Amino acid sequence: MAWTATATLCCRLVRAPAVRRRAPHRTLCSAERSTDAVDREYADLNLRPLYPNRGHHLRIRQHVNPLSASFVEPTGPPDWKEVFEDPLLPLMVDIGCGSGRFLVWLAKNSRERRNYLGLEIRQKLVERTQFWVTELGLRNVYFMFANATVSFEQIVSSYPGPLLLVSILCPDPHFKKKHHKRRVLQTQLVDSITKNLCLGGRVLLQSDVLGVAADMRERFDGYSDVFEHVDCIDKNLRCDNEGWLLDNPIGIRTEREIHAELEGATIYRRMYQKIRDVPHQKTSAVQWISALPRPQAVMG
Ligand SMILES: C[S@@+](CC[C@H](N)C(=O)[O-])C[C@H]1O[C@@H](n2cnc3c(N)ncnc32)[C@H](O)[C@@H]1O
Repeated sequence: MAWTATATLCCRLVRAPAVRRRAPHRTLCSAERSTDAVDREYADLNLRPLYPNRGHHLRIRQHVNPLSASFVEPTGPPDWKEVFEDPLLPLMVDIGCGSGRFLVWLAKNSRERRNYLGLEIRQKLVERTQFWVTELGLRNVYFMFANATVSFEQIVSSYPGPLLLVSILCPDPHFKKKHHKRRVLQTQLVDSITKNLCLGGRVLLQSDVLGVAADMRERFDGYSDVFEHVDCIDKNLRCDNEGWLLDNPIGIRTEREIHAELEGATIYRRMYQKIRDVPHQKTSAVQWISALPRPQAVMG
């Protein structure tokens, strides 16, 4: 039997791990084996025949610089009635969704009635994923070409339903300290997620790079008056001694996660639940308005 994502999900649901399970260490990981593993994970989608002309792989840039002039302008929201069959359903947003297979799989297989939105800064990936979505006839998932750091607020604040889940999964690490400002999760994005998430909504963060996971964790730990980590709320979601979740709470892996696990890497995860509205939200808006230059000052 092919080892599909459904099988992975079932297996994870029946096992209750007591300790962090490391993927078996492999010293050599061929691109081919990685690609096969990705195909197996998303076998249910049967995407290969859907891209016959340009083949399975796209020639795309490995990285783009989100600080370059072409990415600083925020992208506006779509017409939600056009992109989703029911734009009032609870929304999951995957930031930096890459190929989008993870989100398409959820949109097709999840039993929850939800909409799924992928934000991705590499346009060719978005075009390919949207093509798959149309071919599969899915009306609950949509992908946008956008710099999520600067566009999230405009896009998500206009969504008519509740924002239930935001995921940032294996974001680009930008290892050099001077390049940390290129990382997708910056203060403005944390603030916007915190503000727009509905009460009870969740944020899932993960990385195979400990420094990146720790950076994201620190930012959300800083909002302890608004967020609680899920292991304090749901005893089924357990952490190791360092406070990292032992298991993938979604039950389906992203592509980067599959590649990293094949290489024997550990995935560091945190999931927060919004337990309170942002305190003094009104006050901060008033403060912001009162900080604006007064008309007479502008006119001299
Ligand atoms: C390492 S990949 C991970 C993709 C996917 N989440 C996974 O786990 O397989 C990170 C993705 O984030 C995208 N990305 C980086 N900065 C971004 C930004 N500011 N806004 C939107 N997407 C971004 C990259 O183009 C890339 O596809």
